[in-house]
This record gives sequence, C-alpha cells and structure tokens, in this order.
Amino acid sequence: MKLQINPYLRGLKSQDSTKRNTMEMENKWLSEAFIGEVPDFHGRVGWQCPSNIALVKYWGKRGKQLPQNPSISFTLSECRSETFINFEKADRFGFSFFFEGKENPAFGAKIEKFLLENQAFFPFINQLNLKVESRNTFPHSSGIASSASSMSAFVMCLLEIESMLSGLSASSRALRNSVPEPVEGTIDLCKASYFSRLASGSAARSVFPKMALWGKTEAYEGSSDEYAVSLENDIHPVFKTYHDSILIVSGETKAVSSRAGHALMEGNPYAPARYAQANENIKNLFAALKSGDLDTFINITESEALQLHALMMCSNPSFILMKPNTLRIIEMVRNFRNETQIPICFTLDAGPNVHLLYPETAAENVGYFVESKLIDYCADNQWIIDKVGDGSKKLL
Ligand code: PMV
Repeated sequence: MKLQINPYLRGLKSQDSTKRNTMEMENKWLSEAFIGEVPDFHGRVGWQCPSNIALVKYWGKRGKQLPQNPSISFTLSECRSETFINFEKADRFGFSFFFEGKENPAFGAKIEKFLLENQAFFPFINQLNLKVESRNTFPHSSGIASSASSMSAFVMCLLEIESMLSGLSASSRALRNSVPEPVEGTIDLCKASYFSRLASGSAARSVFPKMALWGKTEAYEGSSDEYAVSLENDIHPVFKTYHDSILIVSGETKAVSSRAGHALMEGNPYAPARYAQANENIKNLFAALKSGDLDTFINITESEALQLHALMMCSNPSFILMKPNTLRIIEMVRNFRNETQIPICFTLDAGPNVHLLYPETAAENVGYFVESKLIDYCADNQWIIDKVGDGSKKLL
C-alpha cells in the first residue's frame, strides 16, 4: 500500500534554491503520505500546544501564508490549547469540531478548509470520520488569541494519526486491527511547524520549546519562511525561565482581525522600512538573546510592540487596538523600571493587553508591583501569570 505513488508529487523545475528546498521537502512528505486503504480502525489522540508571544513581530504576509519578515517568539507555558481527535474508518471524509464541549461550526470550518486544501499530504482523511474536541486553559474573556495554540495542537494530532497509519502499514497484516502506538518524539516538528503555519501563521512557532524563529534571516543558518526553528539551544539561560505576566486590559473581541491587519500592510507606505527594520531587529535581538544582554532585549522588544501598533495607526483605513489603560500601564512599567532598575519590559500582541516580560529573579517584585499598582487598569482585575514553556506535548 505504502509503495503507491502519490499523484500530487511536484516536479522540480525551479532554479531558485529556496523553492527547490521547499519542493524537495514537500515531495518527501507527499511520497511518505499514507495513500493506501485505511484499515478498519478507530482511536483517539491528544496533544497540547501553547500560545506564543512574539518579540520581533510578524505583521504582513505574502504568497501562501509566508511572512514578509522573520519573527522571534517566546513559547508560553500556561496559556495553551488541549486538543483531541477521535477518529474512525468511514466511507468518506467526515468532520465535526467541539470547543469546550459545544459544537463550534465557525472554528470547525477553518480547520476543515485547511484539511481539504492539504489533502494531498493527508489523503487518508478521505477515509476517516474525525471528531475534534478542543479547550483552552486561558479564560474565554481574556482577549488572548488562541489560533496559534489550537491550530498547532490540531496539527500535532493529525500527524500522530498519520504516524499510526504508517506504523500500521509497515507492521504485519496480522496486526491490522490493533493500532500501534507511535513512539513519543517521532513526530517531525519541522513538518508540524510547516503545516501549523499553513493553518495559522504564528502557529508555526508554537510547537517548539522556549523560543522559536520563523522566517529566513542571514542571522540564523537553517531559518526558513516555510517553518519555524527552535532557538532553545541558542539562547542565554536567563531567557529559558523568562516570565510573561499578561495584563488583561480588555477581553472584548478585536475590532480588526489579524488577517485584515496583515492585508492592510500591502498598501502601507511604511511597509518597506518596517520589513528592513524587522530584519535589523532580528539580527540585534539574536545577539542579545545569545549573550543575555537585557538592555538590548528590552530596547528592541518595546520598540517592536510600539511599531506594530504604529503600523496599524498608519494603515488605510487606520485602526487602533490599544486602549487608554494600555498606555497607562506602559508608562507605569517604564517608570517602575527606571526607579527600581528591575529589567522588566512590555510587549503587545494585536490587541490592548499588555505582556510584562522579566527574568525569574524579578518575579516577586513584579508580582507586588502588579497587585499594588497595575491591577486597577485590568478588566475585572484579571491578569495571567505565565512563563516560557516546553512547546508541544502528547496528552494520551
Ligand atoms: O498568526 P496571525 O495571523 O494571527 O498573526 C499574528 C500577528 C501578531 O500576533 C501580531 C504578531 C506575531 O508575530 O505573532
């Protein structure tokens, strides 16, 4: 079965080396795809993936979900999605999606679209009924985007089903009805990152522990626009336990989606300067991450957060996602840093909530600062204590 040739294998005509590598990689995955008859089996797989917070931001895309500039993020620990897929042999593709116990056709439609667009890589889905169940560990009303964590967790589950099927076809036919367990760690994280990216850009970075880099940069050999790479072994120990406290300024749904925001970069007159600056920031941040230079880290991280929001303000039409309390918190954080010399800084996602980033040694002081000074600026006094985490994890 496994030896049949996948009809979607692509011809290598391009002379461009990046395209060539991508095509080679895609062809490898296409040739490995399980295209035989799915045996009569059923089961359940489960994975968790965290959200991530970008330091150098991805804002602006091109082609098939490719970034206009490289980005670097911390992988979080407590803010994550836990996703399960129940699967069974069927005559045709069947799909349903449940979020926190309730069927959610809107989110399900996004995953279904992703699966159908990529069915050449996962042809076995046409012989499976999939019931997806997902939940987030962070509150609904927190305004934290969950697409990075949920899409990457879904992709990890999908790759595990594929790995089971491949194991099954490689094992003896006598084992047809007993599903072999894939050995933990056998899922190719580069492939997981590639497909997570296709599902939701920044999800590409969520599968890796500690920190990830997504996007081609001269500063890092092996970096790619197509998938993220782990920076776990390239960073100073201080960053491996870094904290991120998320101050929930507003839990409202964003007025402008990330998708629309990325699209508006196309007409933004500052876009070329922004992409050049992001590349420069990646180089300098990368050096600071290696050496543990917190001053440079703070300088670049805060500048990136403000640039992201400045780009929104000078898009056409323009939009503002910060709230008055976002600015109040930023001002207080900067004052606190100047007064105490504690190396705390802020970053922002595409929304009003403020992420406070600081080394583990500052946790007690920052905790006191938040509780005594910043909590009044948070919606319903909500803040989430998080830190750098270990990436994707198998749940079953
Ligand atoms: O992955 P998307 O399409 O939701 O875009 C993410 C954009 C930012 O969160 C603002 C920046 C980033 O790099 O994560």
